[in-house]
Amino acid sequence: MLDVEFCRRQFPCFCHEQTAKWAFFENAGGSYAPATVSDWLHRCFTEYKVQPYGYSAMSMRLGEEMDMAYRRVAELINAGEDEVTLGPSTTMNVYVLAQAMRELLKEGDEIIVTNQDHEANIGAWRRLEHDGVRIRQWDIDPGSGELDIGDLEQIVSDKTRLVCFSLCSNIVGTMNDCRAVSKIAHEVGALVVADGVSYAPHRVIDVAELGADFILFSTYKTFGTHQGVLWGNAEALSRLPGQSHYFNEQAPRYRMNPSGPQHAQIAALNGVIDYFDTVYDHHFPERKPELHKRASDVSDLFTVHETALANKLLDYLRSNPEVHLIGKDHASAGDRAATISFYTPNTPVSDVADHLAKYHVAVGCGNFYALRCVEALGIPGNPGVIRVSMVHYNTQQEVDRLLEGLDEII
Ligand SMILES: Cc1ncc(COP(=O)(O)O)c(C=O)c1O
Repeated sequence: MLDVEFCRRQFPCFCHEQTAKWAFFENAGGSYAPATVSDWLHRCFTEYKVQPYGYSAMSMRLGEEMDMAYRRVAELINAGEDEVTLGPSTTMNVYVLAQAMRELLKEGDEIIVTNQDHEANIGAWRRLEHDGVRIRQWDIDPGSGELDIGDLEQIVSDKTRLVCFSLCSNIVGTMNDCRAVSKIAHEVGALVVADGVSYAPHRVIDVAELGADFILFSTYKTFGTHQGVLWGNAEALSRLPGQSHYFNEQAPRYRMNPSGPQHAQIAALNGVIDYFDTVYDHHFPERKPELHKRASDVSDLFTVHETALANKLLDYLRSNPEVHLIGKDHASAGDRAATISFYTPNTPVSDVADHLAKYHVAVGCGNFYALRCVEALGIPGNPGVIRVSMVHYNTQQEVDRLLEGLDEII
């Protein structure tokens, strides 16, 4: 079992009086960071925040720490080091990827996007319509919010070049079947771009296992600094024209990141790996497998704990007739993230969020840039839905406070 109190002790936010009193349920917007991350960042900013890869001791140290971070992030997701780009955000990384793809596509080629995704993995692809590319939409079921794999089979064709979808929707919370999507896409020679932003805080990504060609996620939602990870398999990446300066066009870390790396933010990603290791050592002191396995074992503990939290909330929401729950009404390990959205037709959702804040319970309210998804569910995009997004450091007691507050306002 996950020792949640041990995990919480690693996060400075739970030690500060002002933040500790909050039950924080807006993790899908951005999670807290453990001290391992803030220590790394602080050290870098106070001791060696310079241009890396130079000749001074400070510069060499920063370069070494960045190299270590690239290596460890790649190991974390079971990828090759040259397959990882660390850019400013997922939105920017998708945008750059789309610019690269644009050079390979011709009029009449088709790209499949969903109306379940965050706009980051829709809008950049839809822009390619200006170049004559045809966009096909893989629609959610307007009742459940789910994507049906059978519907994808209906719209995929030998014209399909790309299938873009999310490993997990930031509204619906269901973990989509990436292997099944990739199989269908690959059968017609299309590539798969999977947005893993809402998946990565809950499950450690295994690029080999998932079977997509590109996977993206944002480390400020996985307990780290504000970075976007773009993984592309070596073969797919090699086909893309580089988007950086001409002399960096084929340099692995730069080719998909024209803005260049953000030095301190990247170095501090070491702190995320250190955190996983701290949790691992606490729970499995006798073992020491390789990094991806250690992180996956930790993530398995997270999943069990998060699933219990999710079901406690889902049980309540399911039984309240005033609540229109979105997505699965029961979670089983690995099929639903503890990202739970709902709509209250008879109570303005902003009133619900505001009321909960009085209890020091922080939930999200809005469409979270998944406007198409919320509207397709028949819910006004503004003010949108209430979203309770939990991660491993949330507790049963916090959920109790949430339920008390909900019961009063709804
Ligand atoms: C599912 C999903 N995809 C993409 C993004 C965009 O990520 P970033 O803020 O790194 O651009 C978000 C951010 O909220 C998200 O939730």
